[in-house]
Amino acid sequence: MAEALRVGIAGLGTVGASVARVLRDKAAELTRQCGRDIVVSAVSARDPKRDRGVDVSAAKWFDDPVKMAQTAAIDVFIELIGGDEGPARLSVKAALEAGRHVVTANKALLAKHGVALAEIAEKKGVLLNYEAAVAGGIPVIKTMREAMAGNSVNRVFGILNGTCNYILTRMEAEGISFDACLKDAQRLGYAEADPTFDIEGHDTAHKLSILTSLAFGTKIAANDIYMEGISNITQADIRAAGDLGYRIKLLGVAQRTESGIEQRVHPTMVPTASVIAQVHGVTNAVAIETDILGELLLSGPGAGGNATASAVIGDIADIAKSRPGFQHGPVFGLPAKELRPYKKAQMRSHAGGYFIRLTVHDRIGVFAAIAKRMADNDISLESIVQHAVSGEAAAQKTVILVTHETTEAAVRKAVDGITKDGHLTDKPQVIRIERAG
Ligand SMILES: NC(=O)c1ccc[n+]([C@@H]2O[C@H](COP(=O)([O-])OP(=O)(O)OC[C@H]3O[C@@H](n4cnc5c(N)ncnc54)[C@H](OP(=O)(O)O)[C@@H]3O)[C@@H](O)[C@H]2O)c1
Repeated sequence: MAEALRVGIAGLGTVGASVARVLRDKAAELTRQCGRDIVVSAVSARDPKRDRGVDVSAAKWFDDPVKMAQTAAIDVFIELIGGDEGPARLSVKAALEAGRHVVTANKALLAKHGVALAEIAEKKGVLLNYEAAVAGGIPVIKTMREAMAGNSVNRVFGILNGTCNYILTRMEAEGISFDACLKDAQRLGYAEADPTFDIEGHDTAHKLSILTSLAFGTKIAANDIYMEGISNITQADIRAAGDLGYRIKLLGVAQRTESGIEQRVHPTMVPTASVIAQVHGVTNAVAIETDILGELLLSGPGAGGNATASAVIGDIADIAKSRPGFQHGPVFGLPAKELRPYKKAQMRSHAGGYFIRLTVHDRIGVFAAIAKRMADNDISLESIVQHAVSGEAAAQKTVILVTHETTEAAVRKAVDGITKDGHLTDKPQVIRIERAG
């Protein structure tokens, strides 16, 4: 049998401890599958005394993950610390420079430094595997990087953040407010104490930026992504969406358009009958549309210790099965140097249908004024409906418009005009509608 593969795990938190546990519990099976043992020979975390729920005392302890990355006692460095700078970046860079393979679950790091790290990995002839960084346990990286050769991707989109999907699912199912759902999500451990990163779309944007690079062969450009979170979604939106045959999801969407690659993260209305609308709770899903394959939808657990560990272990097993001297494929599907600068489509040129919810004074002429602003901006309406606002606000009405395909620029101009007309009693709500099969 080939020599054992020696791994060092940096970070023994939710994911790191699960990885150590699965490597222990599934040792015999992994040895059979890989043709060699996988041994945890080094570990690093902040607190050497903390009980991790798994015995790692046989592994050499390192206070400093950079030192562990450089030790000759490991073949693979597994980064499960997190963060786009600091120990995660320094240790991954050190490991690659020392000629160690790297496995990471760190989307923030890859979104910011992925291309630079890929260049080092490719120069050194080692692997930088990151299946767990996007959609947790769903094997989307392998699918895009290896199983779709020859396909040209037109659009990739998905539900990439379990916290947001959990909140939106409960808001719809139970009719409760965003704030109440968020509090519950925090109590159950689905949301962080500071949830901004998840609910305002940053986490989705990091993952989307990696998918965009794989889909279109572009450099990763997370900062270019148009981003809106879910914190202003109300029960009024959820109910109106349902009445119109839609469900609201936070989607990350990357799409090839005439003016470049469009990357956006925002609450989206998808048809209730579409497959992606059936993805509930903390589950993630990624849809990939290509010229040869058509549409593929992958769905499954996007987070959690075991699901994420499953993807990390798959990456380690790939390294265990590879043989010395074997030329590894490029990290982002194309050699890092060939990843093209990203031609950004401006959000204002985005084309699609729109849902617009307006709370207006109940007076004569308002309805006509709204319709005129739409017509002045060449926006054709699929429907326009007026409801009385229930409760004490009897002098107000809600007007809900659904547009045919138009542009973001036209909608913004029309809504600005309506706001200036002085008919609104509350902030207008605009939600984009996404085509989904
Ligand atoms: N949790 C998930 O469901 C999930 C899903 C997909 C991807 N990920 C990604 O996986 C990574 C890890 O996430 P996690 O949830 O497992 O995080 P976590 O529970 O907070 O664990 C982080 C670990 O890093 C260690 N650490 C922090 N600073 C360190 C330093 N300077 N030197 C050495 N070790 C250090 C911590 O040590 P102590 O324990 O001693 O404090 C802890 O063990 C992140 O990149 C995350 O984005 C997580």
